[in-house]
Amino acid sequence: MVPGAKNSVLKLMAACLLADGTSEISNVPRIADVSIMSELLEAIGLRLESPETGVLRVTNPGDLTPVAPYELVERIRASINVLGPLLTRCGHVRLSLPGGDDFGARPIDMHIAGLEAMGAEFKVSHGYLEARADRLHGAEVVFDFPSVGATENILTAAVFADGVTRIDNAAREPEVVDLCRFLVAMGADIEGVGTATLTVRGVERGSLRPATHRTVPDRVQAATYIAAVAVAGGELEMVDAHANHMDMLLARCRDMGVDLEPFTTDGVEGLRVSCSQRLRATDVQTLPYPGIATDYKPLIITMLSVADGVAIVTENLYPGRFRYVEELIRLGADIRTDGHHAVVRGQPRLSGAPVRAHDIRAGAAMVVAGLAAEGTTTISGVRHIDRGYDDLVGRLAAVGADITRVED
Ligand code: EPU
Repeated sequence: MVPGAKNSVLKLMAACLLADGTSEISNVPRIADVSIMSELLEAIGLRLESPETGVLRVTNPGDLTPVAPYELVERIRASINVLGPLLTRCGHVRLSLPGGDDFGARPIDMHIAGLEAMGAEFKVSHGYLEARADRLHGAEVVFDFPSVGATENILTAAVFADGVTRIDNAAREPEVVDLCRFLVAMGADIEGVGTATLTVRGVERGSLRPATHRTVPDRVQAATYIAAVAVAGGELEMVDAHANHMDMLLARCRDMGVDLEPFTTDGVEGLRVSCSQRLRATDVQTLPYPGIATDYKPLIITMLSVADGVAIVTENLYPGRFRYVEELIRLGADIRTDGHHAVVRGQPRLSGAPVRAHDIRAGAAMVVAGLAAEGTTTISGVRHIDRGYDDLVGRLAAVGADITRVED
C-alpha cells in the first residue's frame, strides 16, 4: 500500500487555517515532516490529534496567532504554505524567512510578487517576512515558471480575496490538484483544477466549512519501490499507486526494461512492477509536472548507475541537486556532472560502502543503491529519509530486501 503524499498532506494541513471547526484528513503518512508541520500549526493556534493511525483531526478554533517562528520554519520548507492562508484569513502574517536546502537556494520571489499583485504589502525585518492586506483583491497572476509552492500560496490566498483571481502557468502536480479538491470541499470556488489556468472566485471570510479528505498517494514513494525492483530484480504489487500520476516516469522506466502493469482492485488503482533483466541506459530530463519530477532524479541516476550503456540526465529545476552523486561514486558508480547535466556510465554492479543521506530523496536513492550493491552499505543521516518516507525499511524488508535499521 503506497502511503499518502508528504507534499500534499502538509499543504492540506496548512489549508485547515482557512475554516473554523474540525477537518479530518486521512491517508496521512507517518513521517517526521507531518510532526513538524503539526508543531507549527499548533504554535499558530490549531489543535491536532490523531484518533487512529493515518488520520489527523485538525481543529481551528478561529483565534489564530499569525506568526511562523524561525525554529519551526527552518526545519521544513512547506512552512511557507501558511503564508497564503494566514494573510487572507488574518490580514497580516509574520513568517521567518525560509532558508535554502542542501541542494540549493529556494527563493520565494514568485509567492511575494503574486500576493503583491493581490494588494499585499511586504517588508523584511530581523529575518522575518511581514505581510499585510486588510482584504486581498483578485488579480491576474502569471508565473514565469509553474512553481508548486507559489501556486499553492496564491490559490489559498485567493479563496477569500475580493473578486476573481486567475493564475496562469499554474503548477499541475497531483498534490496541487489534491489541495484544490480539499479547498472545493470546504466551499472554495475554483475552476480549471488540474490545468495550467486556475480561476478562483473569492468568497466571504468565514464562509468556508471544515471538510473530510483522503490524501492522494505518494508518487515519489511509489517511484522508490519501482527503482528498488528495477535494480534488485523480482516483482512487486503496489496498491494505491496511481499510474496516471507517473506517466512520463513509467515511460522512461519501460524504456529501461522495467515491466509495469497498472491494475484496479475493488476500485483501488495499483501497479505491478517486475524486472528480470539488466536495465538499459536512457536519457532523462526533469521538468515540472507532467514532466519527470526532480524528486525522482536521484532514484533514476541510481538505476542508470547499474544500467547497460551511457545516459545523460539533465536537471532543469534545482541546478545544484547532484550532491548525492559523490556518494554513488563511493559505491563504484561512474558519473560525471557538468552544470545541470550528469553523464552516467552504467556498471554491472555497485559495491557496498558507508554513505551519507544528504536530503530525503538522496537518502532514498542511497537505500536503492545499497540494494544494487554487492556487500553491505551503511547509510548515515537517515533522519532525512524519516522526513518523507513512511517506514521505508520495514516495507522493503517485508518484500525480501536484506535491510535493517540501526540507530545512529
Ligand atoms: N522558484 C523560484 N522562485 C519562487 C519559487 C520557486 O525561483 O518564488 C524556483 C525554485 O528555486 C526551484 C523551482 O522554482 O528552482 C521549483 O520550485 P517550486 O516552487 O516548484 O518547488 P517547491 O514548492 O519549493 C515542491 C516540493 C519539492 C519539489 C518541488 C518541485 C514541497 C514541500 N516541496 O517544492 O519537494 O522538489 O516542488 O516539484 O511540496 C521533496 O519532497 O524532497 C522536495 C524537495
